[in-house]
Amino acid sequence: MKPIIIANWKMNPLTSRGAFVLAKKVAKGAKGYNATVVLCPPYVFIPQLPASKNVQIGAQNCSWEQKGALTGEVSPFQLKSLGCTFVILGHSERKKYLAETLGMVQAKAEAALQAGLKVILCVENVRELQMIAKNMKSFKNILVVFEPSSAISTQGGKRITPGNISTMAQAMKKVVGKNVPILYGGSVDAKSITSIMKVGKVHGVLIGAASLDAKEFLNIIKEVN
Ligand code: PGA
Repeated sequence: MKPIIIANWKMNPLTSRGAFVLAKKVAKGAKGYNATVVLCPPYVFIPQLPASKNVQIGAQNCSWEQKGALTGEVSPFQLKSLGCTFVILGHSERKKYLAETLGMVQAKAEAALQAGLKVILCVENVRELQMIAKNMKSFKNILVVFEPSSAISTQGGKRITPGNISTMAQAMKKVVGKNVPILYGGSVDAKSITSIMKVGKVHGVLIGAASLDAKEFLNIIKEVN
């Protein structure tokens, strides 16, 4: 399996021009590398960022319903119709600032899978994964991200050793099965990526801050090759 490098732009950049330029630089620079690269911009920029051979597009959230009276929400079906292939669900910032519960995350994951999206499922620890797994029909088309909130660059950026990442990744595999890719998210940059992938034994990474700098993000892609 190719390494999976996912950019979570969060609520950045501020303009559509900025999003266009960043995506264009990444698409150009990612050519020829053996990696699955996914850009997850804010919803509003998705229509202007077409997927290409080098880069796929994902969203950062979706509704648990395909349609209906849910003001301000976006349906997974709508995302699929815009060309998205992935959606991030359960990010710790949504749990912390928007009171998203594990039940909501699980319902969103089922809806996203039904719409034909692949799910980038973020969990804080094995317990959270077990709680979600209890009610999931299958983990087909799901990637699990071990994303401890304390390791996120804007929340302290506490370093987790690659050895600890490996231990967690193995424990998570026991919950979801050995064929489900396990990724890591938390202050990953070009300096740390090699040991995270090799010693941490993960299939890929979810990158926040470092994905907003095209040069740094492309250096990460180069390092995994
Ligand atoms: P960071 O974000 O790379 O800025 O730490 C990662 C994440 O939010 O998962």
